[in-house]
Amino acid sequence: MKAWRGVIEQYRDFLPVTDRTPVVTLCEGNTPLILAPRLAEATDARLEIYLKCEGFNPTGSFKDRGMTMAISKALESGSRAVICASTGNTSASAAAFAARAGIRAFVMVPKGSVALGKLSQAAIHGAKVLTVDGNFDQALTIVRRIAERHPVTLVNSVNPFRLEGQKTAAFEIVDQLGRAPDYHLIPVGNAGNITAYWRGYREYHRAGRMKELPRMVGFQAAGAAPIYENRVIEEPRTVATAIKIGNPANWGPALEAVKDSHGWIDVVSDEEILRAYRMLAREEGIFMEPASAATLAGLIKCVKAGRLEPGSTVVLTLTGHGLKDPDTALESASRPTTVPPAIDAVLAQLGL
Ligand code: F0G
Repeated sequence: MKAWRGVIEQYRDFLPVTDRTPVVTLCEGNTPLILAPRLAEATDARLEIYLKCEGFNPTGSFKDRGMTMAISKALESGSRAVICASTGNTSASAAAFAARAGIRAFVMVPKGSVALGKLSQAAIHGAKVLTVDGNFDQALTIVRRIAERHPVTLVNSVNPFRLEGQKTAAFEIVDQLGRAPDYHLIPVGNAGNITAYWRGYREYHRAGRMKELPRMVGFQAAGAAPIYENRVIEEPRTVATAIKIGNPANWGPALEAVKDSHGWIDVVSDEEILRAYRMLAREEGIFMEPASAATLAGLIKCVKAGRLEPGSTVVLTLTGHGLKDPDTALESASRPTTVPPAIDAVLAQLGL
């Protein structure tokens, strides 16, 4: 087998790159598509469920697929610095790929709403990190203005190359399954990823690599559900900080993806998200962050409502690794028990 060299080399024919594009890669992509029979059993779903584990990318989230493209193209155009607003994962990925490219990264994150692991990533990769006393949407407005007037490249998903890179996840799923799923379930924040997947599926379809297109189903957190509620949410709230967004940049294209594919957008509560988060870790041994668990919470809701045709194949995108957010993990599980260094005391605790 040929060594994996990242999504640009793997899917070059489908991407806007040339021989002159300096490819900046951390060998992102090629993430596992894991069959989840215990989840199907636990949720009473008569479905074939697969988990596309995007948390296994180099910086622990799907953002790396978009960032290899955005940073390579920024470098090609002569840019020496990139900027983004982020709920955490974009900033971690931008910081890592900028380091790899030898250029600067400026990131703005909402104060108090970014998981510890993500902040530590941006910091250790040498990005200039600003925490803003405001929310993600406000930070995005600011960095967009700065990028218009100053020599820095914006690497949020309004940068067209980001979605070009992210669409490769859909290609991989089709390559791994040998076909497209019947339903594709995915969390929605700034709404770039659902847009990218739909683009990827359509392009692969057009190229004759698959016969049927999937239905795209997106899930927002109940306190941060602008698309579902069809209104801007001024003060979004949810435990899933990655998708705590009230005015998504790719709102229109995401709606189109859902409509064109005959899918839908739904909401899940924080309680449902946390239950799914624990279930994923305990039933399948897969530790993903709360925003990713929104997808499983969504699946459970859809199954209960009878919205998924029995016998269907369903793919869930799990967007970011659980280690990103250790605080939520510890709050959601039982704490370690302290014992003296004596066998009897240990056995008593273990009930053996
Ligand atoms: N899941 C995770 C783990 C994310 O980090 C994000 C977005 C999403 C889902 C939603 O994807 O925005 O394309 O709809 N995180 C961005 C960030 C906003 O700044 O890291 P989306």
